Amino acid sequence: MYQNIGIIGVGKLGESMIKMLNYIGYKGGIIGSVRSLSRLEDLNKKYRNISIYTNNSEVVSNSHYLLLCVKPYQAKEVCNKLVNSLPSYVPVVSTMAGISLAKLEEWLPHNRVIRCMPNIPCIMGQGIVPYYTNQEASFSNYTMDTIFFPNKLIRLDSDNKINESTLVSGCGPALLSAYIDIILSDNTHLTTEEQAELMQKTLIGTGHLLSMYTTTEIIALVSSPGGATAIALDAIRNVEIDKSIRYAIEKARQKIRDMSIE
Ligand SMILES: NC(=O)c1ccc[n+]([C@@H]2O[C@H](COP(=O)([O-])OP(=O)(O)OC[C@H]3O[C@@H](n4cnc5c(N)ncnc54)[C@H](OP(=O)(O)O)[C@@H]3O)[C@@H](O)[C@H]2O)c1
Repeated sequence: MYQNIGIIGVGKLGESMIKMLNYIGYKGGIIGSVRSLSRLEDLNKKYRNISIYTNNSEVVSNSHYLLLCVKPYQAKEVCNKLVNSLPSYVPVVSTMAGISLAKLEEWLPHNRVIRCMPNIPCIMGQGIVPYYTNQEASFSNYTMDTIFFPNKLIRLDSDNKINESTLVSGCGPALLSAYIDIILSDNTHLTTEEQAELMQKTLIGTGHLLSMYTTTEIIALVSSPGGATAIALDAIRNVEIDKSIRYAIEKARQKIRDMSIE
């Protein structure tokens, strides 16, 4: 029997979850909720295969799995209101940054809860989803596979590692894209298509290399003394770009800490 996935809060991330489920051809039903009628109408126009409500109970009572995708500051109120309608057998998977598993278990009427952080390549089935739960593997593997397959799943052994993984795989696609923009903005000789193909293959290829080599080894493989790569790397070190990047990551880490409810 195909099962329904309910998404509480179809905003940016909730809509990405719909894109992911559509992309991977999820055979069960997709149901979601929003707050405003304008968002509901917008989603109804865009997606014919999903049912959207402004009433969370409607979603809960028709779902076999629940994805929580509201903003962290909205989480407590939303969870409190689910208490009466959430059946004990429906697993709840939270995507909300900074809300600890302990808090979710406190706010929800049962503890079949998983905390995760899907990244944006999930919309093409190429993402990674770190997650943390106190539940047995048989329960959590089944739930996470049902929702996210074929994306890569990685079960972490502490709640705090979800925050740290957000800095790597969550922010990663945007930070790498910002870096790519800088590299390409100066290159007016290649067409946009040529640039896109070169960069895409380079990123995928480097990703494969990382499964066999360390970053230091990759740098050594590419750069020869006095060559263009070595000169570019020297320039990077001279202007201390590493400091700016560390500063940026620390700012993001601080933001996650500020949002956190443990
Ligand atoms: N954005 C990302 O890439 C990303 C990545 C990983 C995790 N996350 C997590 O995903 C969560 C959502 O982030 P977002 O960027 O998608 O925020 P968002 O665009 O503001 O989406 C939040 C959605 O929740 C809806 N909502 C608010 N209160 C509700 C309620 N009581 N019942 C039902 N729906 C309600 C809002 O409806 P209206 O539109 O009608 O106001 C909105 O559509 C956050 O906790 C964030 O940490 C986001």
